[in-house]
Amino acid sequence: MNKRWVVGNWKLNKTCAEARAFTEGLRAQLQSLAGDVTCIIAPPFTALQTVASAGPDVGVAAQNIYGQDAGAFTGEISAPLAAEAGARYTLVGHSERRALFHETDGQCAQKLTAAARAGLCPILCVGESAQDRAQGRTAQVVEQQLEGACGRYLQGQEGPLMVAYEPIWAIGTGHTPAPEDAQAVHAVLHQALGALMPQGAAAVPLLYGGSVTADNAAAFVSQRHIHGVLVGGASLTLQSFVRIAQVLSA
Ligand code: PGA
Repeated sequence: MNKRWVVGNWKLNKTCAEARAFTEGLRAQLQSLAGDVTCIIAPPFTALQTVASAGPDVGVAAQNIYGQDAGAFTGEISAPLAAEAGARYTLVGHSERRALFHETDGQCAQKLTAAARAGLCPILCVGESAQDRAQGRTAQVVEQQLEGACGRYLQGQEGPLMVAYEPIWAIGTGHTPAPEDAQAVHAVLHQALGALMPQGAAAVPLLYGGSVTADNAAAFVSQRHIHGVLVGGASLTLQSFVRIAQVLSA
């Protein structure tokens, strides 16, 4: 897969005005990207429309969706609403959702189906804690998360899917796995997906996330099963996000 992806997860940051300035700046610099790189921004819900209105060359992702399309679910946003606001992708099961809002693999499974129903491509996030890693349980944890969320989704009529491997201990810490170690986990994910998908997992882009910067992005995407990056902190300034996209396009 020669195509590359860079997804910026803004988390709970940026007003609509800030999102507009960023996205206009990003669009102006997209021509500087040589290769086949897709830039996707995951803003807060309130800025989805703002980012989408910049045009189709910047992909738009929700950071989360609810598993039902409508009903008495105060405070939630459904996949059809996110799609109407301009989203084409959605993160599902980010580790902050799992840790702070107690999201389960079962809920992620519902969200994958809800996303596909609304025409969104889900980006499922999986990753182990520092403790899991110390106990040698990384492969087991990510396989469990993958199967728990995707098993049914991939058995039925298959929808689109991307998977991001984000070791929890690497998120926002400045620590990263060695690219070869990340690759080993991606190979596990690729194989596990292949077992769940009759026609093979070649079409599922796999991203690495956790303290990605312009300085380390190339080493990750040069690995066989790493097709792009999911970026938190370094996606908040236009210059560092564009530099990452440029590194991926080189
Ligand atoms: P980080 O966050 O790049 O700031 O480590 C990544 C993420 O949470 O998706």
